[in-house]
Amino acid sequence: MAQQVRGVVAPGKGEPVRIETITIPDPGPGEAVVKVQACGVCHTDLHYREGGINDEFPFLLGHEAAGVVESVGDGVTGVEPGDFVVLNWRAVCGQCRACLRGRPWYCFDTHNAAQKMTLADGTELSPALGIGAFADKTLVAAGQCTKVDPAAKPEVAGLLGCGVMAGLGAAINTGGVGRGDSVAVIGCGGVGAAAVLGARLAGAGTIIAVDLDERKLATAAGLGATHTVRAGDGDVVEAVRELTGGFGADVTIDAVGRPETYEQAFYARDLAGTVVLVGVPTPEMRLELPLLDVFGRGGSLKSSWYGDCLPSRDFPMLIDLYLQGRLDLDAFVSETIPLDGVEAAFEKMHHGDVLRSVVVL
Ligand SMILES: NC(=O)c1ccc[n+]([C@@H]2O[C@H](COP(=O)([O-])OP(=O)(O)OC[C@H]3O[C@@H](n4cnc5c(N)ncnc54)[C@H](O)[C@@H]3O)[C@@H](O)[C@H]2O)c1
Ligand SMILES: [Zn+2]
Ligand SMILES: [Zn+2]
Repeated sequence: MAQQVRGVVAPGKGEPVRIETITIPDPGPGEAVVKVQACGVCHTDLHYREGGINDEFPFLLGHEAAGVVESVGDGVTGVEPGDFVVLNWRAVCGQCRACLRGRPWYCFDTHNAAQKMTLADGTELSPALGIGAFADKTLVAAGQCTKVDPAAKPEVAGLLGCGVMAGLGAAINTGGVGRGDSVAVIGCGGVGAAAVLGARLAGAGTIIAVDLDERKLATAAGLGATHTVRAGDGDVVEAVRELTGGFGADVTIDAVGRPETYEQAFYARDLAGTVVLVGVPTPEMRLELPLLDVFGRGGSLKSSWYGDCLPSRDFPMLIDLYLQGRLDLDAFVSETIPLDGVEAAFEKMHHGDVLRSVVVL
């Protein structure tokens, strides 16, 4: 039987979010209903509320979540009621050209629930990134549930569902950071700080954190940055070169996503190095670079969606490292908040006061 629960809904462009009663259908074939335990507040939720993603209002926000599977529909074999899971927005199809070539992290046809969650009056909701987890329960495709060790705290585990995975993966998967490499991360919010942690995990020798905000630099240093550079205090490219023997870093990661930070990443990189863009630009942004420099400096220019992660491979492994004390994910939980604290959390995010506010249910 369909059930009614609380959910945080963005009713229209720029309007404050509010808690509504939402209807969750029983899971159909290939679907699962998950009892949400925790869900982090990500910049992308704010983008949705501001109409920056699309205008399919009303949205059911929230997409960095962990919880327990409550029920599953026909044909579901991967998870069962009682499983502790992290929700992902990359339930790979196994059939598209990327999946068939053995590169499922580029899957072009990822799965979401076929049925819709609705408001009490029947209005269909658009769940953020196909998840919608600022709610007591949510309906997803079963493939969006990745089982992990239940010893991990939900408010920490859920963060792997988006921003923290994006940053870790930007360094480890996309950037291919290796032992002894030098790495520079520009912008050390939740995503960039995770990139610092990823670079450390991969064995980087020099890790340079760059941010405008001293508080973010202090956090990055705590997570393994060997040097910090305050953007705005001088030339970022020169500072990174100075710290890397005059050459630039092997891998530079732009976790802001603006033309000026991308250009810094491009020139702060050693010859034949790698630039990774993980920050998300807006549609009007343009980049201008001398094409001869693009050619002459060699190496590779990459972008990183969700850290090129494969949830089934990466989430359980990262949770295991966390439980062994080898990956400090606790540092990302700045505060835990109730379901009605999302609007205030957007405000704190805007002022740079937090890495992550996490709704705990
Ligand atoms: N690629 C993906 O899959 C993915 C996933 C999640 C988030 N993101 C994107 O990553 C970006 C960062 O997200 P976040 O949650 O870390 O945001 P955030 O707001 O927490 O962090 C951004 C940081 O960049 C710093 N900054 C801003 N301008 C700067 C500049 N000119 N030089 C240096 N530092 C600067 C800020 O001080 C802040 O610390 C966003 O664009 C977000 O949309 C991408
Ligand atoms: Zn696919
Ligand atoms: Zn997100």
